Amino acid sequence: MGTLREAVLKNEGYKANDRLLEIPLPSKKVIYDIQHLNLWYGNTQALKDVNLAVNEKEVTAIIGPSGCGKSTYLKTLNRMVELVPDVRTTGTIMYRGKNIFDTSFKEEELRTWVGMVFQKPNPFPKSIYENIAYGPKIHGIRNKKLLDQIVERSLRSAYIWDEVKDRLHDNAYGLSGGQQQRLCIARCLAIEPDVILMDEPTSALDPKSTRKVEALIQELKKEFAIIIVTHNMQQAARISDRTAFFLNGEVVEYDKTGRIFSNPTDSRTEDYISGRFG
Ligand SMILES: Nc1ncnc2c1ncn2[C@@H]1O[C@H](COP(=O)(O)OP(=O)(O)O)[C@@H](O)[C@H]1O
Ligand SMILES: [Mg+2]
Repeated sequence: MGTLREAVLKNEGYKANDRLLEIPLPSKKVIYDIQHLNLWYGNTQALKDVNLAVNEKEVTAIIGPSGCGKSTYLKTLNRMVELVPDVRTTGTIMYRGKNIFDTSFKEEELRTWVGMVFQKPNPFPKSIYENIAYGPKIHGIRNKKLLDQIVERSLRSAYIWDEVKDRLHDNAYGLSGGQQQRLCIARCLAIEPDVILMDEPTSALDPKSTRKVEALIQELKKEFAIIIVTHNMQQAARISDRTAFFLNGEVVEYDKTGRIFSNPTDSRTEDYISGRFG
């Protein structure tokens, strides 16, 4: 198994019949390779031996009932979970070949590569323009022309430019919830991330705004890896390439989305997707 994994990581291909769920497609580059990840909050174990590989230019959905560790998993990927007192992790998270837990790994860099969008849109209490310019400014960009370009490009990429271009200096709180969420996505894009983590990004939105964000995710995956937690199984089926089903902190099954929803291997996955629990 180790050699097959290595072969895949070196893009040497593998036999179609080999069913190693954590193995990504050979033609894709692996962004995250998570191995034997365990996490405890105090004495409570929230993640149990999680093994998952995430590819670039794909949408990976994380599904599972409330409390199964989806948000914890996501926040581990950018080390945000370490802000919680009394957290302990074991295992490795390789990000483009480097273990993010290594002392030599620069956490600030990780934060520029890995953007995050939360359940509730959380714009800063500032203008639309400043919301986007904030990150680039922190990274030392002062040139007004350049900032203008970054703001426009980010808002265009998040499909909100036309709605806000005439009111860039108005407070972001004046936007609708759906617009605020796309603004938060634009804010991520401004720092040119590699991966965007999304924790139930549409659960506070109406159906129309949800569709807009879903369409946006389909566009964004042409350039970025998206890892999205969703409790909405239709959404996972609509927008993701791969789906991981979590239960009690464990990955029960991880596979191509079509397979998870049409022909899952584990009966617990079957029970969950057919609505028997959760
Ligand atoms: N900050 C925290 N401190 C202690 N326990 C936590 C904390 N956050 C989450 N947990 C616990 O970890 C488990 C997983 O939670 P979470 O990752 O939020 O699940 P999900 O996002 O799937 O609903 C739950 O049992 C939850 O109570
Ligand atoms: Mg959660």
